[in-house]
Amino acid sequence: MDPARATPHAPNLTVPSTVLVHLNGQLLPHDRAAVSPFDRGFLFGDGLYEGLRAFSTGTPHHPHRIIGLNRHIRRFQRGLDLCGIHYNAALLAPITEHLLAANHLHDAFVYWQVTRGTPDLTSGPVRSRVMTSPHPPTVFAYLSPLPPLDLTSALPAAKRAGCQRDLRWHLGHIKSISLLGNVIPAIAAHQAVAADEALLIRAMPDGRRLLGEGTYTNVAVVRGNTVRTPTLTATSILPGVTREIMLELDPAIREDEITEDELRTADEVLLIGTTTMITAVTHLDGHPVGNARPGPHAHRLMRLLCDALRENREDIPTPTPAPAPHGADA
Ligand SMILES: Cc1ncc(COP(=O)(O)O)c(C=O)c1O
Repeated sequence: MDPARATPHAPNLTVPSTVLVHLNGQLLPHDRAAVSPFDRGFLFGDGLYEGLRAFSTGTPHHPHRIIGLNRHIRRFQRGLDLCGIHYNAALLAPITEHLLAANHLHDAFVYWQVTRGTPDLTSGPVRSRVMTSPHPPTVFAYLSPLPPLDLTSALPAAKRAGCQRDLRWHLGHIKSISLLGNVIPAIAAHQAVAADEALLIRAMPDGRRLLGEGTYTNVAVVRGNTVRTPTLTATSILPGVTREIMLELDPAIREDEITEDELRTADEVLLIGTTTMITAVTHLDGHPVGNARPGPHAHRLMRLLCDALRENREDIPTPTPAPAPHGADA
């Protein structure tokens, strides 16, 4: 296998034939978990998701942690509130613990999805854009196993990327389950240059072409000793949890508008994300980036991240729950 294409997250892990998933308060074998075809997530993509990573710590009392758990809860809650989907995202923390225990996993990708739910069929047309009666949201979570993280000596992985036009909406901060705008460029870049990730370029009204993010990662570009990552607002991108962590760990990283030309002439191009961690782009549209190997900043930032994870420094404190209004149910 071409070492430039090796990734630490493409293992030959055996996924058990039955996975226990969480659906609407129940723990179920995945093949018994059923959602109505009238669920708004299925019909409209009317829902949000989060992708997290649990990793084993090697300590008996806390055998695993979830990277940036409270940051994920905060981002999810903001998205749910913005969309008017009524759900307390903090409930997903104990649900995830339950799932990890039930599936006997410490190292896993963790997926949460909450949709606006399934309308009551007697309350109006099922495809009514506006919900006419209140429905409970649909809450789904599953895990898939990942190899353990080696936080003392993990190296940045290496991937190929290709540029594609960003044709998505302007609400990139909402982690919508409607991912067609990400799937189409990912497939196109894969078909064009065998890319593992598509880097999305937005054509701006003033004629500039700006780098936004990948289809499942944030991006940083390096020139000399300057590391820059696109601003959240210039092209409307996801406030990635890992991006947020890296900006705190290395305050020298600049948030900036980055043109396609700057991307194409960078010394290093980095992908940043929950399972991606810090990954070097070694080829962009088939051309080598730098010397086509993970460069010094990829190594440095990967080390910063792994050290913070090992020392439990990457998260924010658990928010204290707001007191229940007088007389309200707990
Ligand atoms: C479009 C997009 N950008 C960036 C990211 C990285 O975000 P995070 O660091 O929270 O995983 C993701 C993750 O799924 C994503 O889908």
